Amino acid sequence: MDNSKIIEALDRDPLAQAQSAADQIAKITKKLSHQVALVLGSGWISAADSLGKPTHEFSATELPGFINPTVAGHGGKIRSYDLNTDGKITSVLVFLGRTHFYEGLGMNAVCHSVRTAVKAGCKSIVLTNAAGGINRDYKVGQPVLIRDHISLTAASPLSGANFVDLTDLYSKDLRNIVKQSDSQLSEGVYVHWRGPTYETPAEINMMRTVGADLVGMSTVPEAIAAHALGAKVLAISLVTNAAAGVTGEKLDHAEVIAAGKAAATRIGDLLAKVLPKL
Ligand code: HPA
Repeated sequence: MDNSKIIEALDRDPLAQAQSAADQIAKITKKLSHQVALVLGSGWISAADSLGKPTHEFSATELPGFINPTVAGHGGKIRSYDLNTDGKITSVLVFLGRTHFYEGLGMNAVCHSVRTAVKAGCKSIVLTNAAGGINRDYKVGQPVLIRDHISLTAASPLSGANFVDLTDLYSKDLRNIVKQSDSQLSEGVYVHWRGPTYETPAEINMMRTVGADLVGMSTVPEAIAAHALGAKVLAISLVTNAAAGVTGEKLDHAEVIAAGKAAATRIGDLLAKVLPKL
């Protein structure tokens, strides 16, 4: 099916498409349900290697509602893992790559992975991303737990009289579980920037003034969509660069991807430890 037909079906009934995709995952994996989902953003993909060997890997496009990702470094594959902790199996769905709002395909395309994960049974959704560091204390290669966000896109994945509370969007319980494994982790406020341009130095100054620590082009719509369906959300940014104007260096997409790759193993090990506990 071409992308415009896929988007049309998604926009008509996003939750029905997510249910169909979840049914297809159950068929492919022969697992009635999964418990945790992990969305790996730019440069994070090799972090999945720390999870061991997946039981299944398939292209997202084998499922209803998924369009081909368009950005270099974003994979478009889905894996299923059975993580064994002391004999207890946790089935984890891993999405390698995502659709971004800046691709112009609409919020339902952006949120289809997490909605599919929730329909597949996932009660905890882990979102990862590459972000620019606005906070001057952050170092390139550092993971930061998102504790709250500021949306500068003025776009929501929800419509209608759907007044969802967002006070604990980035679950404090889940953040505390991660911090038990790595007490050094910082927490920060993430700004969702539409992109695809990076920010101007003036925009970064504005963001810092209003309390932001990190900026990126993803995660926020997915977090809201997952939360609205009752899942708990954990979100982790990898600082891949100092945000515009912080060091005076120009921003480069290839460098963002490379910084993500360099830090992926450390972060993968952390994920492997915490996913079964969520
Ligand atoms: N700005 C926006 N998105 C990003 C950045 C940035 O500096 N780095 C990685 N994703």
